Amino acid sequence: MDKFIIEGNTPLKGNITVSGSKNAALPLMAAALLGNTPSVLENIPRLNDIYTFNNVLRVTGTVVDFNEGGNQLTINPSNLSFPESPYDLVRKMRASFYMLGALLAHSGYAKVSLPGGCAWGPRPVNLHLEGLKALGAEITMDKGYVIAKAPNGRLPGGNFKLEPSSVGATVNILLAAVKAQGVSVIRNAAREPDVVLLCQALNSMGARIKGLGTSELTIEGVSELQGTTFRNAPDRIEAGTFMIAAAMHPESDLTIDNIDPSDLGHFRQTFDQIGVTTTYSDNAVRVQPPEKLNAVSIKAEIYPGFPTDLQAQWATMLTQAHGEATVTDHIYYDRFSYVPELGRLGANAVLHENTVTIKGKTPLQGASVMSTDLRASVSLVMAGMVAEGTTEVLRVYHLDRGYENLEKKLNAAGALISRVSE
Ligand code: EPZ
Repeated sequence: MDKFIIEGNTPLKGNITVSGSKNAALPLMAAALLGNTPSVLENIPRLNDIYTFNNVLRVTGTVVDFNEGGNQLTINPSNLSFPESPYDLVRKMRASFYMLGALLAHSGYAKVSLPGGCAWGPRPVNLHLEGLKALGAEITMDKGYVIAKAPNGRLPGGNFKLEPSSVGATVNILLAAVKAQGVSVIRNAAREPDVVLLCQALNSMGARIKGLGTSELTIEGVSELQGTTFRNAPDRIEAGTFMIAAAMHPESDLTIDNIDPSDLGHFRQTFDQIGVTTTYSDNAVRVQPPEKLNAVSIKAEIYPGFPTDLQAQWATMLTQAHGEATVTDHIYYDRFSYVPELGRLGANAVLHENTVTIKGKTPLQGASVMSTDLRASVSLVMAGMVAEGTTEVLRVYHLDRGYENLEKKLNAAGALISRVSE
């Protein structure tokens, strides 16, 4: 297992480029199964989750070619003949569960392993299953697998209201609905940019989805979809991560390239409240921190609210802000495994239920800390970059799931991170 050795205390200066979005790419890859001809997806990041999903697709007989240098995926589903997704792959990457909706639409049948939990607790899929049933799927469970069948080989379609709103369930129901016989309506649908992008990609394949960007999606089923050439969005969570990292050191002056500012939702206004100077262009933002950061509280909510995938990074930044503030996660109540690790670095952070209270500014001292999940890991790297002395971040394989070339990008902007194989 690799670890990072980080020498603090370094500002971030110059430029850093954001890669393609992990969470937008995965639904696009599942959608490609629905085309009668191959699809080409561009701006696909070289991440472990992408490699895992490539293998999930290949198991079905689909041919997947990843031109890594060009960040381009070609997916040819013409030989898709085994509509199943095995546990040993699905357990590695929950989004493999999208195969349920995709295979149902493609083959009228799907056998997909239930995903396991994850680092911070249960991740239910009840809404995925109830939604597919509402479209007319027959769902049975067998030894940890979900077996879904479309009566007469094609789903009738139907209406479903998500409670709570769910990105994954919206994706799965969309994938099943686009080739249903009739019209389907998803209410309280997720409005994340990842979902809008999926709808745009499916419509470019011939699907008929209306209400993009709203919480009510209407899908008129069609019998056939064609392959598409489609460009993936930049990773909004990577963009937010680098923006927050830059804010943590008063001498930083970092321009983050290849972003889509309109994907940042309310994060953009909240970020300005800490006192940074932000200068946006249509695909970049320059971040110049103040001498003293304001402590600003956040609540992680569904889009366009503050993203849960940035709450750990925000809490880490608050250790360097002046004053007391709270981070509450209304999406995942127990996504706080990073808090004790921040404490090891000297942070004043107290967790109560789904809220952590942080008092800053506290100087951080380097120490050995443990990664537990993707976003917690990057937060510990951010803390290490402003801590005095040496910080060891263990089990950085979590990072490799969601951040392409992270240490290379940060070192090019002034960080001192070395990757060591244990
Ligand atoms: C997606 O996960 C993202 N993953 C997550 O990013 C992200 O944190 C999450 O959306 C929220 O934005 C991908 O896109 C691959 P949800 P997903 O279904 O779809 C509850 C990362 O770090 N729920 O929107 O699994 C659920 O418990 C990852 O990149 C049900 O109750 O999230 C949660 O409280 C981590 N029943 C809420 O909905 C269900 O059937 C939102 O979860 C499904 C979800």
